[in-house]
Amino acid sequence: MSERVAVVTGGGGGIGRATVERLRRDGRAVVFAELDADRAEATAQATGATPVVADVATPDGVAALVAAVDSRYPAIDALVNNVGHYLAPTPFAKSSPAHWDALDAINLRHVFAVTHALLPKLLARGGSIVNVSSVEGLRGYPVDPVYAAYKAAVIHFTRSLALELGGRGVRVNAVGPDITQSLQVDYSTVPVELEDRWKIWAPIGRPGTPEDQAGVIAFLVSDDAAFVTGHCIPTDGGTLAGGGWFRIPGTGRWTNRPTNP
Ligand SMILES: NC(=O)c1ccc[n+]([C@@H]2O[C@H](COP(=O)([O-])OP(=O)(O)OC[C@H]3O[C@@H](n4cnc5c(N)ncnc54)[C@H](O)[C@@H]3O)[C@@H](O)[C@H]2O)c1
Repeated sequence: MSERVAVVTGGGGGIGRATVERLRRDGRAVVFAELDADRAEATAQATGATPVVADVATPDGVAALVAAVDSRYPAIDALVNNVGHYLAPTPFAKSSPAHWDALDAINLRHVFAVTHALLPKLLARGGSIVNVSSVEGLRGYPVDPVYAAYKAAVIHFTRSLALELGGRGVRVNAVGPDITQSLQVDYSTVPVELEDRWKIWAPIGRPGTPEDQAGVIAFLVSDDAAFVTGHCIPTDGGTLAGGGWFRIPGTGRWTNRPTNP
């Protein structure tokens, strides 16, 4: 049987690293892109995956990732487009073309570019794509409508591509994380003296871990999800079901963390 091969972007931190670890444990060879050389090396050492130090928000970075895959594998069976960031949360009135472009580059354009470049390798034997979106792509996000729009675009790209590729052996899904401890979102700094905080914030009663996200991603690329395509699974601890946004009295700011403004 051919070796199963996965490609992951942003494999040095948070959800990306946990995904590399999980897919390696599941028996896949993994090639991952990572901007930060130290983090790339740490993931590679810990997992045996192949690092590519590259910025996938640039054409050169995408080309470096694709060249590394090309030189090793004739086909891949999983692609996880994980890189994304909210940068500096910006209300629309204060937004700018530079902000839109920066959010596009880090959240959307590389999803198109990496997928487009690696699609022939996915079509070669059949496989699965998972795009990491956000709950903010599934609901309105007053803190930064532009970020929300790009994350929503990732989900709609997921659906549309699933239609195009469904008959060609490639499934396409997304996950929509919320409140997951990672490098860019450090929930460990949140004081937890209020026992009920996580129950208010996340109905499941705790913040998420990168491993929580990686488990769903691993399911979606596995044969157990063979009849699942075109969906975004909210991986949110229940916040979409139980949460809402609240304006913090007297500040003009918004929060969905009513006990942690
Ligand atoms: N953590 C959360 O609560 C949360 C919530 C919603 C959505 N998400 C989404 O999950 C995904 C992963 O987020 P995370 O919280 O695990 O992030 P993280 O910051 O913990 O890790 C991201 C990793 O990607 C690398 N990276 C960043 N830009 C890159 C680039 N241009 N090229 C290559 N590598 C790059 C970083 O160096 C880092 O190692 C993102 O798409 C994010 O929007 C996370």
